[in-house]
Amino acid sequence: MKKISPTTDLATLPVGIFDSGLGGLTVYRQIRTQLLSENIIYLGDTARVPYGSKSTETIRDFTTQITRFLLDQPVKAIVIACNTASSLALDVVRSLTDLPVVNVIDPGVQEAVNATQNGHVAVIGTTATIESGAYTARVQAVNPDIQIFSAACPLFVPLVEEGWEDHPVTQLIAREYLNPLVQQNLDTLILGCTHYPILKSVLKSILPSHVTIVDSSRVVARTLKEALTFHNMLNPLEKPGTDLFYVTDFPRKFKAISSRFLGHEPSCVQKLPIETLNRYSLRKE
Ligand code: DGL
Repeated sequence: MKKISPTTDLATLPVGIFDSGLGGLTVYRQIRTQLLSENIIYLGDTARVPYGSKSTETIRDFTTQITRFLLDQPVKAIVIACNTASSLALDVVRSLTDLPVVNVIDPGVQEAVNATQNGHVAVIGTTATIESGAYTARVQAVNPDIQIFSAACPLFVPLVEEGWEDHPVTQLIAREYLNPLVQQNLDTLILGCTHYPILKSVLKSILPSHVTIVDSSRVVARTLKEALTFHNMLNPLEKPGTDLFYVTDFPRKFKAISSRFLGHEPSCVQKLPIETLNRYSLRKE
C-alpha cells in the first residue's frame, strides 16, 4: 500500500461515508462505535435510492458525483457503505483520489473465506451487485478452491424499508430466495447488501444452524481503523467526534427507516439538493 504523507490537518478531517440511502447507517454505526474520536460525514442518496436496479452507467455516475462532493468538503478517507456502488464503481472512487478508500466487499469476503469449513460460500445482494459478479471474482481471487453461489434478492430492500422484517410474507420470500442456496450445502452466507443485517433473524430461522452469516459492517469499520492507523491519520484529538448526515431527500417514513438502521433517530441531518450533486457529474450531456 502506498503511504500518504500525513499532516495533522489531514488527520483531523472527517471520514466521508456514503450509501445509496439509509442502509449504510449499519456501517456508520459500527464506525462510530469503533472510532469514537473521528468526525464523520454521512451522505445517503435517498432521492435516487435504490441503486440496485439501476444501470452500471448510472451507478458509476452517481458514485462519481458523491465522491467528488465528499472530497470537496474535504474528507480524509472514503467509505463506500453500499454494496452496489462497491461492486460497480470502486475503481471510479479510486481513480478520483489517493486517500484511503474502504469498500464493503473485500472485508466481508475475507471474513467469509476465513469462516468457511466446507468451501461452499453464498452471497445475496441486489440485482446489480449479483450480476456484476464482484463477490464471485473477489472470493476466487482470495481462494480459487471455494465454490461461490449467489442470489439476487430484490424484494428484501423494500421489505426492510416497510418495516416488515417480522412479517410472514418476508419469511415466504426469504425461503424462496434461500432454498436454492441451502441445497448447495452452503456453510457461510455473505450479506451483500447494507439492508440485510436487519433481516438476520428471519434468515437464521431458515438457514441450517451451522451456517455462518457474514455481516461485513463490523469488519468494514475495523478495516477503516487499520487504514487510518497505517497512514497515521487517526484523529489525534481525544474528544468525541462529530456527525453530519446529508440526505438528498427526506423520504416519507425517514424517521422510522433511519431509526431501524441506527437504533435511534439521527440528529444533525441536512438536505443536500440533488442539483448540487449533479454539478459534480463528469457525464457529458
Ligand atoms: N445500499 C444498497 C446496497 O448495499 C441497497 C439499496 C439499493 O439498492 O440502493 O447494495
